[in-house]
Amino acid sequence: MRISTLFVLAAIASSPLRAEEPPAQAKDFIDAFQGLFGEHKGARKGHAKGVCAVGSFTGSAEAARLFTSPLFSGERRPAQIRFSMAGGNPAVPDATRSPRGLAAQFSLPDDRVHNIATLSTPVFGAATPESFLGLLRASLPGPDGKPDSAKLAAYRTAHPDTQAQFQWLQGNPPPWSYANAAYFGLHTFHFATAAGERAVRWRLQPRDGIRGLTDAELASAPADFLAARLSQQVASAPVQFDWIVTLGQPGDNESDPSRPWPSDRPELNAGTLTITAVGGDACTGLNFDPNVLSEGIRAGDDPILRMRSPAYAISFGKRLSGQ
Ligand code: HEM
Repeated sequence: MRISTLFVLAAIASSPLRAEEPPAQAKDFIDAFQGLFGEHKGARKGHAKGVCAVGSFTGSAEAARLFTSPLFSGERRPAQIRFSMAGGNPAVPDATRSPRGLAAQFSLPDDRVHNIATLSTPVFGAATPESFLGLLRASLPGPDGKPDSAKLAAYRTAHPDTQAQFQWLQGNPPPWSYANAAYFGLHTFHFATAAGERAVRWRLQPRDGIRGLTDAELASAPADFLAARLSQQVASAPVQFDWIVTLGQPGDNESDPSRPWPSDRPELNAGTLTITAVGGDACTGLNFDPNVLSEGIRAGDDPILRMRSPAYAISFGKRLSGQ
């Protein structure tokens, strides 16, 4: 066998897309979400429970010097924001051990916008769309209507990329407030600079600190407290997050959001997201498609990020038409 053939075989063997896994389609995810969480007409098929907020983002002087995107110009960019619970159940209890979401749409000059949709876990739950779809399908209830925990555990064992987010969620309590979690962009993006592009990852770090529910709070938490708590916090002072950008180095992974970058990469504070009001329904009709990006920012080569646009579009279309 030629050396090059060996290399190809080794690459296939180590790829999370196995021979038995056909390419995932966006519609498969919508079907899986509805199978898992039930059909909730007019609701988002993922992150069904959430609350709208409004605020703005202002880039830092350092980001304005480094990056060319108008998002980081240093001017105040108005934002529509939505905090959410992962999953397609609009009535999921707020103390559930699952990711929280922060999505925002920033208004830029010339009627342009830039979207983000982030999670409160430092890694995603799978390396590829196929592995994520398999995870969702392994979580579906069996013929008796109950989840099959042995099947799910076997899937996780066979797909090690599904372990890191799961372990993180087991090891960290759910947040005390939407305002007291860090939110991760997870994918790799390329930010243009005057000297060329930089591969970056980023997170929104809460100014008020990270705070999880204590065991006692976890045991006694009502089903709904996150939206009201955020409202109370914003009523006493604007809630703020620092946009922390991590600068990648050549060779850093850009296709797999289930794997973090090495922890020694340099970081900079690229600006501040400020939440000034909570409630209303301004975010309800928005699709926070994370591939809608401003000039000077482009997506990295990540199949999961690419899969999100068509999946969000199907969910958006369904909920607009009351399905
Ligand atoms: C293949 C992977 C994924 C699929 C199929 C998927 C699917 C979905 C769908 C269908 C929605 C509802 C969209 C709508 O109706 O507007 C949604 C919402 C959301 N997703 Fe994902 N998602 C994926 C990965 C991710 C990742 C990697 C992140 C974070 C980095 C993320 C964060 C969010 C957030 C924050 C929302 C709520 C947005 C809002 O408030 O409108 N998702 N997802």
